[in-house]
Amino acid sequence: MTLPSSVRIVEVGPRDGLQNEQQPIPIEVKLELIHQLAGAGVTYIEAGSFVNPKWIPQMAGSEEVFRQLRRDAGVCYAALTPNMQGYQRAVESGVSEVAIFAAASEAFSHKNINCSVAESIERFTSVMEAAARDKIPVRGYVSCVVGCPYEGDVAPEQVAAVARQLFDMGCYEVSMGDTIGVGTPASVSTMLEATLQYIPATRLAVHLHDTYGQALANIYASLQLGIATVDSSVAGLGGCPYAKGASGNVATEDVIYLLNGLGIEHGIDLDRLVAAGNFISHTLGKESGSKVARARRQ
Ligand code: HMG
Ligand code: MG
Repeated sequence: MTLPSSVRIVEVGPRDGLQNEQQPIPIEVKLELIHQLAGAGVTYIEAGSFVNPKWIPQMAGSEEVFRQLRRDAGVCYAALTPNMQGYQRAVESGVSEVAIFAAASEAFSHKNINCSVAESIERFTSVMEAAARDKIPVRGYVSCVVGCPYEGDVAPEQVAAVARQLFDMGCYEVSMGDTIGVGTPASVSTMLEATLQYIPATRLAVHLHDTYGQALANIYASLQLGIATVDSSVAGLGGCPYAKGASGNVATEDVIYLLNGLGIEHGIDLDRLVAAGNFISHTLGKESGSKVARARRQ
């Protein structure tokens, strides 16, 4: 199959990246990062999450982030909402859209959101109803689409069934998360092929953590299957608080370099993106997880 002519980047660094940092991150730093990302041409930024702050303290300030955001026209500022309480907080803070998140594995669902997969789908029903009433688009995530830190391999049919439920209940797009980054082009393609039976490629995204260094290869395999939305995290920030050893998402800078090489449109200025990644890496006092950023610094 021919590759897509353009790819939409969903930048998850300010949420998936920063949720995992140990040190407290001031609101001003989060805002500066989000503003720099928008300045680089990123049009979708997951800027926070409205989860239980006792579980994820780093996201406790999401209200303030959304209230103080300088919003650029044409940029979607989104947040995770696990339940109605989170949804209400998100709407009151002026989010552009929300995301619900389920898992393909029971054990991960319990650890991450404290309920079974079926119970989570039930919880999301009220979020979907409220969002439909408020005309707020909802994105869906499926975690552990290849492997689970507690259960091991996850069957592609099981993944496809959860993705299908999120799609059927009204998510406009479902993002397939290799939460612990164990997939290879073979396992990721098999999983996507199972899901493509129910959801068209235009409504699927890939969300690949880079733990085993396979994320770019997996993105290339996904592009070959017609997937044209890629989640990524500037400077490769992040990990998963409920998946020990999981590294961050694939670095946005590295995805942009790949897309540039393939002649695929994306609308992002690589120099400004690298600057945003260097800003946050420097502020956190850590080496950037982007190989492109590191290569350009030498
Ligand atoms: P729970 O403890 O089962 O909730 O948490 P509960 O309904 O029993 O309520 C317990 C307490 O939580 C109550 O407070 C509620 O008010 C409060 P208390 O009476 O004890 O003071 N509470 C909330 N507070 C603020 N906002 C809320 C909220 N809901 C309840 N929305 C819950 C259930 C889902 C809330 C909890 O398990 C939770 O917050 N989990 C979040 C986990 C999380 O954020 N994980 C990381 C994101 S997912 C991810 O990274 C994967 C992804 O990137 C894709 C991939 O990589 O695969 C998306
Ligand atoms: Mg993630």
